[in-house]
Amino acid sequence: MVKPFYVVAGGGGFIGGHLVAELRRRGLGPIRSVDIKPTSEWYQCFEDVENIVADLKDLANCRRACKDAREVYCLAADMGGMGFIETHKAACMLSVLISTHMLLAARDAKVEKYFYSSSACVYNADKQKSEDVVPLKEADAYPGMPEDGYGWEKLFTERMCRHFTEDFGMYTRVARFHNVYGPHGTWEGGREKAPAAISRKVIEAKLGGKKEIEIWGNGHQTRSFMYIDDCLKGIDMILHGNVPEPINLGSDELVTINGLVDMVEDIAGIKLKRHYNLNAPKGVNGRNSDNTLIKKYLNWAPSIRLRNGMEKTYKWIYDEYVAKYGSTAKR
Ligand code: NAD
Ligand code: GDD
Repeated sequence: MVKPFYVVAGGGGFIGGHLVAELRRRGLGPIRSVDIKPTSEWYQCFEDVENIVADLKDLANCRRACKDAREVYCLAADMGGMGFIETHKAACMLSVLISTHMLLAARDAKVEKYFYSSSACVYNADKQKSEDVVPLKEADAYPGMPEDGYGWEKLFTERMCRHFTEDFGMYTRVARFHNVYGPHGTWEGGREKAPAAISRKVIEAKLGGKKEIEIWGNGHQTRSFMYIDDCLKGIDMILHGNVPEPINLGSDELVTINGLVDMVEDIAGIKLKRHYNLNAPKGVNGRNSDNTLIKKYLNWAPSIRLRNGMEKTYKWIYDEYVAKYGSTAKR
């Protein structure tokens, strides 16, 4: 029997919403998008998609999600930037119920291809102590000492995918996303990551006539940030390619947080006095993606420059901010 559905679990979220949009653009379907949030809160929601509001921690809902599915993209997770994952470790680990039940349901529904979104947070903390980073190779996830809470769940689920392949013959692919940014994502409320948070803070200052900005940490932390379009391309290539092990999907353009702030200020045409909050959530000191393996498997790696992606992201957040708070907002 032909199994028609392309299923995006977490389709109301940032990456999931873009993925649904991309599958539509490619003319694939029917598409089913599942998320726990009411559809009014989905970043992207399309009428020609089967949109289901359901809690995927529940096995019965996972079975409904996977029914007649050809491909399943498991992106649903209770997650966010450092401000969220450092303070919600149990909630992050409870995503294991989503991950486990989705795998069981997909196995039983004989899904052809299964994608799981892991994270750079699986990497051993000892390898990320210095801002002066050596980019992380896939083997650096072991011996296991991932980000507390969230990272443990991701590492555990990676192993689950591996063993579902070994024991049940299920086709699984796993990508370790490095900090993904772009329009149609979280920019306020506590789950936002640095690119969106810094954009919002600069916009707030610009529109509110403030001269200062609060930065978490000392600004010397280093990261790489991947634009959403590279993420979507990578998901497609990894799911459909010969990539039988968890693989980095991230940019290798390293930047300090101060450098990111410089860039956003330049885009906004403003210069602010920086106040460094050393008690705020900071995460690891340094992290970058080693893209040797993805180039070996796919002859491709993310390449969109941070400046290009940030210009689009800043503009989208600016428009959202003005639509919500007005153009002379003083929050
Ligand atoms: P997101 O929070 O925007 O999307 C996740 C979606 O999952 C949300 O819409 C949320 O409502 C939904 N969800 C949470 N619990 C659910 C449940 N019980 N049942 C159904 N839906 C549920 O996050 P995102 O940035 O789009 O991330 C997508 C995936 O990629 C996640 O698995 C995340 O851990 C992973 N990831 C993201 C990044 C990044 O930088 N964005 C980095 C590494 C890994
Ligand atoms: N969120 C946020 N907000 N971070 C800030 C801010 C701010 O206003 N100011 C400075 N930062 C600093 C943080 O302290 C941290 O050192 C760095 O910017 C990056 O923070 P995040 O973008 O929140 O998270 P991350 O890069 O440490 O981890 C993210 O990426 C992982 C994958 O690479 C998280 O989203 C994880 O969930 C994700 O798996």
